[in-house]
This record gives sequence, structure tokens and C-alpha cells, in this order.
Amino acid sequence: MSDLNRKTDSAGKRDKGGAPSPSLPLPGKDDPSPLTRHPSLIPVIAIDGPSASGKGTVAQRVANQLGYHYLDSGALYRLVALAARQRGISWQDAPALAAMTRSLNIQFENGSILLDGLDVSEDLRAEEMSKGASEVAVHPGVRAALLDLQHGLRKLPGLVADGRDMATVVFPDAQTKIYLTASAETRAERRYKQLLEKGKKADLGEILRDLQQRDARDSQRSTAPLQQCKDACLLETSNMSIEEAVRFVIDAFERQKK
Ligand code: C5P
Repeated sequence: MSDLNRKTDSAGKRDKGGAPSPSLPLPGKDDPSPLTRHPSLIPVIAIDGPSASGKGTVAQRVANQLGYHYLDSGALYRLVALAARQRGISWQDAPALAAMTRSLNIQFENGSILLDGLDVSEDLRAEEMSKGASEVAVHPGVRAALLDLQHGLRKLPGLVADGRDMATVVFPDAQTKIYLTASAETRAERRYKQLLEKGKKADLGEILRDLQQRDARDSQRSTAPLQQCKDACLLETSNMSIEEAVRFVIDAFERQKK
């Protein structure tokens, strides 16, 4: 069974992690196609769910299979947390964070995320930034500042986006909406094994407590809380392989096209 918890480390990327490939038929300024003029016609598969549910791995594989772009929206909140740390801005300082987020110099390049021209992809995956991301994500000004950037990644031939509010706020008109989850215990075990495989120290109890805290913060905040929206298909992966989860998403997408 494949590891459902392997996480990508970039946002807005294509294939195995990369900025949208230049070989894609990306719309140009003079492109008269109706899809370019009406981005809402460009297909989006929105996959939301709690931390460590494996949605990043599933979303990325679905994107690869369909040849679609991929947005890891969690990486953007991690980036905000990291940038704030570097600039000495508190994760609680909502106005300063919102102003900073609006002026961030972010680039997606060959599967990496660059902040002020430096590759920070690895730094974003630190446990500290998982916590920071969920703290900065509660501020409406930060969320608003990231909206245009996310909308801008809706490009031909389509986008697979994962996060907490993809189906509810960012792409409410997504063609396919999936709420991907697993029990907190299963998610904690997956994260635990993943850390051990990387040769890192890990404490299962601590990981579980940390996940539960993040779940609570993400689902109880007033702006864009994590929730399954009415028109999303539930995908419970506690007893599922990555391949089965990917098939479920692609089947749901194919069904919706008919
Ligand atoms: O998905 P990931 O674990 O990288 O996300 C880190 C944190 O970013 C989440 O715990 C959540 O608080 C926040 N987030 C969010 N909205 C998104 C994606 C992530 O609030 N669309």
C-alpha cells in the first residue's frame, strides 16, 4: 500500500512539483478562446480536508494523471508564516501580516517555491511552519490577500487544488468537490511513520495532540473554516490506498463531465 501521507512541497505546480509548464497551452493575451475569457469554465477539482489526511498526495497524483496544474494552498499559508518569522512579525499581528502578505515576492519555479528569490520549499515543511500556517490562516486579511494569487492559477487545461476552503471559498464553482479525510489516529500514525522513515525523532502521542489542535483551530475559526460543503463527495481514506483514493477522485470527475 502506498503512503497516503507523502506531502508535496510546492504550490501552483504542475507534474511532480513545478510551476506551470511552459509547454502547456497557456492562454495568452490575444487568445480568443471562451475558456480564457471565462475562467470559471476551466475545470477545477477542489479537494479539502484536515491536516495529514493525504489530500496533497492524492491531489498531486490526480493532477499528474489528468495533466492538470496543481495548487497546494497550504504551502501559501506556510509561506506567510515563514515570511513573518523572517521579518520579525508576530503570527498574531493581523494588520501587519495582511500588509506583508499583499506585498510578498513569491515565485513558483521548477517545483520549488521562492520567497524573495530564495528557494524555501524545504523550510516550509518544518513542523514549526505547520503550526505557524494554521495561526496566520485565522486572519481574514491574510486569506483575502492570497485569493487573487490562487484564482490566477486556474489555467488551462485545468486545476486540482487542495486545502481547507477550496470548495467553499476559493473555487465555489469547482466542477468536482471532494472532502478527503481519515480518522485523527490514522492521520497521526501516517505522519509518525513518515517522520521515522525520514530518520527523524517522533512521538505518536504528541503528533496526535498537535493534529487535534490544528483540526480544532482550522474548523472553529470564523473565516473560511474547514468544513465539508453540501455538494462535496466524502472520501474517507482510513482504510484506503493512495491508488484507490486517486481512482475515486477521477471517477467523480468523469461522472460529473457526463
Ligand atoms: O495543508 P497544510 O497542512 O500544508 O496547511 C497548513 C495550514 O494552513 C492548515 O493547518 C490551515 O490552517 C491552513 N490552510 C488554510 N486554508 C487552506 C490551506 C491551508 O487555512 N486552503
